[in-house]
Amino acid sequence: MGVPLLDLKAQHVALREDVVKAATAVLDSQQFILGPVVADFESSCAAYCAVPHAIGVSSGTDALLLALMGLGIGQGDEVITSPFSFFATAGCVHRVGARPVFVDIDPGSFNLDPARIEQRITSRTRAILPVHLFGRCADMGSILGIAERHGLHVIEDAAQAIGSEHQGRRAGSMGAAGCFSFFPSKNLGGVGDGGLVTCRDPALFQRMIRLRNHGSHPKYFHSDVGGNFRLDAIQAAVLSVKLPHLDGWTAGRQRNAMMYCQRLADLESSGALVLPENPSDVRHIWNQFTLRIPGRRNELQAHLKAREIGTEVYYPRSLHLQECFSYLGHKAGDMPQAERASAEALSIPIFPELTQAQIDEVCNAIHDFFR
Ligand SMILES: Cc1ncc(COP(=O)(O)O)c(C=O)c1O
Repeated sequence: MGVPLLDLKAQHVALREDVVKAATAVLDSQQFILGPVVADFESSCAAYCAVPHAIGVSSGTDALLLALMGLGIGQGDEVITSPFSFFATAGCVHRVGARPVFVDIDPGSFNLDPARIEQRITSRTRAILPVHLFGRCADMGSILGIAERHGLHVIEDAAQAIGSEHQGRRAGSMGAAGCFSFFPSKNLGGVGDGGLVTCRDPALFQRMIRLRNHGSHPKYFHSDVGGNFRLDAIQAAVLSVKLPHLDGWTAGRQRNAMMYCQRLADLESSGALVLPENPSDVRHIWNQFTLRIPGRRNELQAHLKAREIGTEVYYPRSLHLQECFSYLGHKAGDMPQAERASAEALSIPIFPELTQAQIDEVCNAIHDFFR
């Protein structure tokens, strides 16, 4: 039968009519840049994320850039972040002229290990940038406590975590700013690139609104240098159709995750693999369902590929070992947990429309491999 890692068509078929109608309305209006459709979507997202302010932007990457710029982080500053993330997390820190300072992850959550943060804080540290990887919030209680003690900003990279919660608080509502991506493979995915920044402080909100549009205020007068970080109306229209379905899709992902946990529990007991954690104080939204396969990850991936089961390695090289960051002077062994995760992690299909038969197929194939 084969099972894709992600089947976007399954979602599209169900929503096709509404999506086409919403996109057509934007075409008919000829209002493509910002405007009421974007503003309505921003209000809905602010409510969903439990924050007063949300700003639609051109991508998750630009959300991170805008948040860093909005907080005035730049040349000479240091930002503490995770080495086990998508490249944009640290790439944006570098792009604003600041220095990414990597802190190793907690192996259970794949997220920034708060116990290691304080030893990397210096007089130049301005912010902590935790990533809610795979849809599970980082340990925000500890991270916010550290940030408060040291007078640091917290920017949440919530690109993979819309609707995720830590102790009842929504991703993007806990730090100074939250950064989201609407890349098509995200739980709320657009028909192209898109992103969002959330915040609580009205002054930061106003500053980011200006920076999103070249720092222009009023039009053609620039007190700051910003960029073109605007969300397209057509993306906002499609995303507005999808947002009301997000909790239903999340429930589907959670159901699938529980099925995998039941069906693969014997392999965890025998030590063949490690299942992702699902602690009770976190609302995990399962953007990815990521196993650890100590020693045999690549072999299992090849076996699943031969059975036409889609998998992905997020992420095969941790950020401190990327060539472009060689100026930071890291070497293999500096971030042992992130490096181990790069060697062991394997994400398997978790999208909401997976059928019971597809889940059986994946689980049977994994069992066959270890048999
Ligand atoms: C953790 C993380 N941060 C940032 C981004 C950047 O988002 P985008 O691809 O929308 O620019 C992504 C997207 O893949 C991501 O997963």
